[in-house]
Amino acid sequence: MNLTLKVWRQENAQARGRLETYEAREISEHMSFLEMLDVVNEDLIKQGLEPIHFDHDCREGICGMCSLVINGIPHGKEKATTTCQLHMRHFKDGETITIEPFRAKAFPVIKDLVVDRSAFDRIMAAGGFTSINVGGAPDANAIPIPKADADKAMDAAACIGCGACVAACKNASAMLFVGAKVSQFALLPQGRVEREKRVRAMVAQMDKERFGACTNQYECEAVCPKEISVEMIARMNREYFRAAVKPQASAKAVGA
Ligand code: SF4
Ligand code: FES
Repeated sequence: MNLTLKVWRQENAQARGRLETYEAREISEHMSFLEMLDVVNEDLIKQGLEPIHFDHDCREGICGMCSLVINGIPHGKEKATTTCQLHMRHFKDGETITIEPFRAKAFPVIKDLVVDRSAFDRIMAAGGFTSINVGGAPDANAIPIPKADADKAMDAAACIGCGACVAACKNASAMLFVGAKVSQFALLPQGRVEREKRVRAMVAQMDKERFGACTNQYECEAVCPKEISVEMIARMNREYFRAAVKPQASAKAVGA
């Protein structure tokens, strides 16, 4: 198929960006969206032009590096699908596709479609870990955990940190991401030891990074490629409230 692409080009965070038009020719319906962009870039390089910069790594839907707002929707309109797993069979010959970066103040554009999502790394560094010795796999298996809790923790841990939830939200809220990361620990006994310290630190860092607040629009859940539920946001709020009503006791318990 032949397609027309309107692609956001921007030199750096300070430069003014603009949409530029490119033709994508002889695209197979079996290609992924990123493979289609590879074809366009090969053409641009052959012509001595600057290729379109975009993020990717695994191309298997697991690393969270790919992004792109495709026709106004982060990761495109297919449900539970990352950009790298989106295939060209979902588009029609002759179609015009608009491709933009994830837009949020906390995700400044580095170049073209590549944005800086290191704010998520700083939130994780603030508390998204256990600092106690939890032993090895045999020790974890020796701790009885209700199946329902283990399943929910696994659902939370499915978050790949892509940032689509932020890009979809009119407030650029990161609460679905932070909710998932808080929940994956709060649901397990190994994570409960530092639960109050963790949620306080992660929420404080989230606010410092200038992400907005949740106003229950649910756009985040709608675009999430891993179908993370807004239930995670509710759990994070409960964890935060719990930490707020007994701050001193919890700080002593974790040696803070
Ligand atoms: S919650 Fe979903 S959309 Fe947000 S970072 Fe995690 S995987 Fe991406
Ligand atoms: S490139 Fe890894 S999830 Fe898309």
